[in-house]
Amino acid sequence: MRILLTGKNGQLGRCFQDVIKNTELALFAFDSAELDITNAQNIDQVVRQTKPDIIVNAAAYTAVDKAETDSETAYLVNATGPCLLAEQAARLNIPLIHISTDYVFDGEAVEPYKPSDVTNPQSVYGASKLAGEESVTATCDKYIILRTAWVFSEYGNNFVKTMLRLAKERDSLGVVANQYGCPTYAGDLAKAILSICEQHEQDKPLAWGVYHYCGDTPTSWHGFARAIFAKAYELGVISSRPQLKAISSDQYLTPAKRPEYSVMSTQALRYIGVKASPWNTSLSFVLSKLT
Ligand SMILES: NC(=O)c1ccc[n+]([C@@H]2O[C@H](COP(=O)([O-])OP(=O)(O)OC[C@H]3O[C@@H](n4cnc5c(N)ncnc54)[C@H](OP(=O)(O)O)[C@@H]3O)[C@@H](O)[C@H]2O)c1
Repeated sequence: MRILLTGKNGQLGRCFQDVIKNTELALFAFDSAELDITNAQNIDQVVRQTKPDIIVNAAAYTAVDKAETDSETAYLVNATGPCLLAEQAARLNIPLIHISTDYVFDGEAVEPYKPSDVTNPQSVYGASKLAGEESVTATCDKYIILRTAWVFSEYGNNFVKTMLRLAKERDSLGVVANQYGCPTYAGDLAKAILSICEQHEQDKPLAWGVYHYCGDTPTSWHGFARAIFAKAYELGVISSRPQLKAISSDQYLTPAKRPEYSVMSTQALRYIGVKASPWNTSLSFVLSKLT
């Protein structure tokens, strides 16, 4: 089976290339210079060359704060791009696997969000990703949208790497304790996508739709930082643990508003035969790669 992957240099893109290595599947992976998902002609040319059986869109505009002042680019990459990919998927009658975010929710919930819950993004990034979801669902029939959250990996920039850097630079630091979510290892997400591709290859019927793929245990950014420092210290990645102070989001103002509670229910994942990210175990794996 031939898989077309966009955004190959991102966290998910790189992890997907890792997990597919030991399989028989043929991967055609592109970075933004080779395949710009906002360029219809470029997509058409690549699709005609590669003749994919499935498209995996790992490309996105992920600069959450920058998006507040650069909404045009955010919408181009996060809404127009997925729409163009969905048009190709529809033309070829092949599935599109697309990734979205917990930031489509406003964070006012008191229990984990289900995929069918009402969306109400509070940021340009969240709104642009929701527009992407809507364009995919309106354009093709065979799609799986995986909303994910708090993505970390051994690649690129992410919260784990920021905490490790700060641990080396500072004796103490304050981390937001009143925002709750589910950390997700990009490698686990990549494995889930691979499983979907394999099921498609084996002609297993897939339940197309929107799903939540994220970590299996909710925490706060403060709790996540505590877990990172504990494991990193244990593994010798850092030589000392900074004193960790709990602060509120009012004390850490950012251009984009984040949801206070973006915990997502992953129960529906059983319909597509995958399990939520065991982020605690995966954190140890990532830290061991960063030693
Ligand atoms: N990171 C998170 O915490 C998080 C949280 C929730 C959801 N998500 C979603 O999860 C998915 C994967 O995120 P990630 O963390 O792997 O993202 P990432 O590391 O920021 O990678 C995104 C990739 O998209 C590429 N890209 C940007 N514009 C493009 C364009 N016009 N055409 C083609 N490629 C383009 C970038 O390539 P260049 O660098 O070459 O521009 C980059 O390699 C995204 O859909 C994201 O919205 C992420």
